[in-house]
Amino acid sequence: MQSISRRQFLASTAAAGAASVVLPLINPRAVDAAIPGIIRADTRVIEVAGRAAKVFGLVQADGTHGLVTSAANDFQVRLENALDAPTLIHWHGLTPPFGQDGVPDLPQPLLQPGQSYDYSFPIATPGTHWMHAHTLQEQQLLAAPLVVTDPAEAGADEQPLVVLFHDFSFKTPEELLAGLTGSAPASGNGGMAGHSMSGMSSMDMQGMSGGQGMAMPMDVNDIQYDAYLANDRTLDDPQVFAVERNGTVRLRLINGATATAFWIDTGSIEGEASAVDGNPVAPLRGRRFPLAMGQRLDIRLRIPDEAGAWPILALREGSVERTGFVLATRGGAVKRIAPVGDQATAAFDLAFESSLVAAKPLAATSADRNQSIEIGGTMQGYSWTLNGRTWGDHLPIAVRKGERIELVLRNASMMGHPMHLHGHHFQVVAIDGRRFAGAVRDTVWLPPMREVTVAFDAANPGTWAFHCHHLYHMATGMMTVVDYTA
Ligand code: C2O
Ligand code: CU
Repeated sequence: MQSISRRQFLASTAAAGAASVVLPLINPRAVDAAIPGIIRADTRVIEVAGRAAKVFGLVQADGTHGLVTSAANDFQVRLENALDAPTLIHWHGLTPPFGQDGVPDLPQPLLQPGQSYDYSFPIATPGTHWMHAHTLQEQQLLAAPLVVTDPAEAGADEQPLVVLFHDFSFKTPEELLAGLTGSAPASGNGGMAGHSMSGMSSMDMQGMSGGQGMAMPMDVNDIQYDAYLANDRTLDDPQVFAVERNGTVRLRLINGATATAFWIDTGSIEGEASAVDGNPVAPLRGRRFPLAMGQRLDIRLRIPDEAGAWPILALREGSVERTGFVLATRGGAVKRIAPVGDQATAAFDLAFESSLVAAKPLAATSADRNQSIEIGGTMQGYSWTLNGRTWGDHLPIAVRKGERIELVLRNASMMGHPMHLHGHHFQVVAIDGRRFAGAVRDTVWLPPMREVTVAFDAANPGTWAFHCHHLYHMATGMMTVVDYTA
């Protein structure tokens, strides 16, 4: 990502002004059912910690970043590639027919510069989703919210606020990847070879491998980023949402970071988690919620009946860095928030996941097919595998249409992995063998040495990507497919 001159930057952002109170990123405007909305993959300039940075974006004709549509509409979008490189966008959370999923060569080829493609399929279910390139371009913010509103909630007296989190580097993703794998970077920057430069941090943890109770180091973050963003902004200049005293706010939070999990910290206001990955859950109160890469989380908050300003923070897992935004009433004084906290947060566990209960569970039925998947790999050599294999050498998970499938995911590595299935939403039905009616979602976190079982109905034939949503784990091969025909 190259930086550009301050003057170019000012020219391109003059219209945005320097107001500290800005409107929500997205206008709740539905796409007309007949005419495809245009989403253009393009470049943008944002300011990161006082420095201008050229990034990608997914913008509508009117400049809106991302898309808000209603579940009553079909998804009708013309994707235009205005970049000078091939690209394709995946609709993360939607369940399109195979063919419109937006993963390169599964089965759609990349769009060349200047090409466009019209997508059209029913949406049916509401939820907080997102769209992103299924390539290293995701690191350069080729990612945006994709919110599907519920027509049944049209009159709800709550203020929706959409926030996409990201991990930002002034290095190119190719350089970051080369830094992890230890190979020579594809472009410039000689100082990156070897992953000793990657800023990996380890945490001590009682490893449970083989029941030895032996302490093993757990790897938490493998890339040291230059900044962590919430709607393109750092805590030096956070987005401030104007809220009403005593009003109800519905946060629609999206972790669009490529390699960073965040704890969402609602501070002094207790929140109520109401949906994960767009699917409703029994309301769960709390002040700190895990949000892994690829996942979404809806949180309802009641603003106190007083003038004030309340930061909502996203704390980097196992570390001190943070990002976030502010909710402020009229007359509420916004205080400066340091971009670094004084205490490293904990590593993710499954406490939140095991407390979630689906509000709309799958039909209760026994599995027609069980498939176990061992998640493996180490930082050493930067090799990450599913059942011992990497993409290209992968064994497809063969299922049959109409079956109830259970995937038993076991993490045999010392790093956590957010595992994502395309084309379906699954239900978490067991953790370490304990059965329960957990959340329906599309991305689930696997801490080291833990086992999570997910169930789904094979009702959408195709060859669907199943992978780790850590971009560099996926890029080095941590991906396979679930495969079936009609
Ligand atoms: Cu968010 Cu395979 O994607
Ligand atoms: Cu991973």
